[in-house]
Amino acid sequence: MCGIVGYIGQDDTKDILLNGLEKLEYRGYDSAGIATLNNNGVNVFKVKGRIAALREAVDESNKATLGIGHTRWATHGVPSRENAHPHQSVSERFTIVHNGVIENYIDIRDEYLADVNMKSETDTEIIVQLIEVLNEQMDDVAAAFRKAVELLSGSYAIALIDRENQDTIYVAKNKSPLLVGLGDDFNVVASDSMAALHVTDQFLELMDKETVIVQRNSVEIQKLDGTTVSREPFTAELDATDIEKGTYPHFMLKEIDEQPFVIRKIIQEYKNENDEIKLDLDIRQAMKNCDRIYIIAAGTSYHAGLLGKQFIEKLANIPVEVHVASEFSYNMPLLSEKPLFLFISQSGETADSRSVLVQIKELGHPALTLTNVPGSTLSREANYTMHLHAGPEIAVASTKAYTAQMAVLAILAVDTARAKGLELEFDPMQELGIAANAMEALTDQKEELEELAREYLPTTRNCFFIGRSVDHYVGLEGSLKLKEISYIQAEGFAGGELKHGTIALIEDGTPVIALATQENVNYSIRGNVQEVEARGANSLIISMKGLDKEGDAFVIPYVHHLLTPLVSVIPLQLISYYAALHRDCDVDKPRNLAKSVTVE
Ligand code: F6R
Repeated sequence: MCGIVGYIGQDDTKDILLNGLEKLEYRGYDSAGIATLNNNGVNVFKVKGRIAALREAVDESNKATLGIGHTRWATHGVPSRENAHPHQSVSERFTIVHNGVIENYIDIRDEYLADVNMKSETDTEIIVQLIEVLNEQMDDVAAAFRKAVELLSGSYAIALIDRENQDTIYVAKNKSPLLVGLGDDFNVVASDSMAALHVTDQFLELMDKETVIVQRNSVEIQKLDGTTVSREPFTAELDATDIEKGTYPHFMLKEIDEQPFVIRKIIQEYKNENDEIKLDLDIRQAMKNCDRIYIIAAGTSYHAGLLGKQFIEKLANIPVEVHVASEFSYNMPLLSEKPLFLFISQSGETADSRSVLVQIKELGHPALTLTNVPGSTLSREANYTMHLHAGPEIAVASTKAYTAQMAVLAILAVDTARAKGLELEFDPMQELGIAANAMEALTDQKEELEELAREYLPTTRNCFFIGRSVDHYVGLEGSLKLKEISYIQAEGFAGGELKHGTIALIEDGTPVIALATQENVNYSIRGNVQEVEARGANSLIISMKGLDKEGDAFVIPYVHHLLTPLVSVIPLQLISYYAALHRDCDVDKPRNLAKSVTVE
């Protein structure tokens, strides 16, 4: 969380920084700031709030060809102008932006900075004050920077400027993502290539505990011992237009609409010329060799994992456990003899998942990451990666990555089943194609779904989602979507579980959204709907063609029973979208959230 940009070149830096920060707002948007450096010294502009507010605050007449910027998701210290980055050292010689969490900041403060008057409550200020103190002792900024970085523990991506040097940005990273973008007569620094695509598509990947001296015509990567490292740049595959919303009012709506195309892209990417599944042979082998799979994920990706378990157990006959990443590290279950860890993560940067990855690698277990960002930390550090091919997901609420995760998991399960010689009647590519068509049909029914949101969720305080079997897992995802963007308290429950306590919350008019897409539980879920209706609930049934009954509020097209989640989630995404819109909520950037959760 938090996004960093830096620029050193020939042009005025403000717009380059502000445009970059806008592309990084998905990483946090509590407060923002930039610092520019010219012959008049360092100019710092900071605001509590969004980049749009920062744009207003920036002095247009101030020209500079070197600068750093930051958009923040608060970890230490409330969102405020004071706690916004950049932060400066006491003499204001050094100015820093930081993404991450410094775990030993209190130790550093006590040991090195007892005499320094801190201006903010942030762990970031510790870094910049430490650099100033060390530079006073060493009289060598690069060495002081390296020494400071060596003393830090925790996660960080840092960009630092020195008032006495208009030719350098000092950069370092550990666990938090950071790239250097290369140009002609300029270089940029960014948390994500999206922030710099408007100026370059050439990027240098940085490894943990490296520092970098970034100048207009050179970039020098160093290890903490001062030795230099040479590395070839890579070309970012993204197109700048992939990250624009075009005529859509919100990225979320655009990304919901993109889902059928993403599924078709996945079919294309995972199929060879003989229409067989195309998969890295090492992944196939790892799946075949393991005796149990441990899925590790958070949030929406965890919900995809619950469905992944169904695919893998039912099709490939391998036992699967699904774990919330933040719990696994502290509460590791007994592991089987030959475990395979499967990390599911849109961003590939989720700190909770990464901490599990580090832990299980130390134990010597293999890991496969399913991610939408192939060069991401979880992808680089796992043994194997499967790409989701969903294209950049910008809205904070995940939609297309979720359906992509399920599609890739279904393909993986079938491939494993075939590798194990199991007979299957399920053709994933054909069934996914049918599901994609059904998804497309649903994205054309927006008016109907908007009307349902208007009718069922206009002023409600809470809402329940019920379902049985896979419908229960889709209900969990539907409730997460609704609560995160509309702030309606929404909870997903197994249909049969509600009466064991939670039914006490049902009052006259409480909305209950029930999913009924599975033949084997169609009768029982409808029984659960009657139970809540008898207590006054305003129920809305979403069923599937063939299983539908008179009075159902919405019917999705018929698809294979294993793949209904890809389709039944679309009305839930759209109902959530419209409920949030009707409440004037910021759909793409809901309060208190960030897209990429890079702190534990
Ligand atoms: C909800 C949402 C989050 C993420 C979670 C994990 O809409 O997007 O719950 O799913 O933070 O993120 P990734 O998948 O990037 O690891």
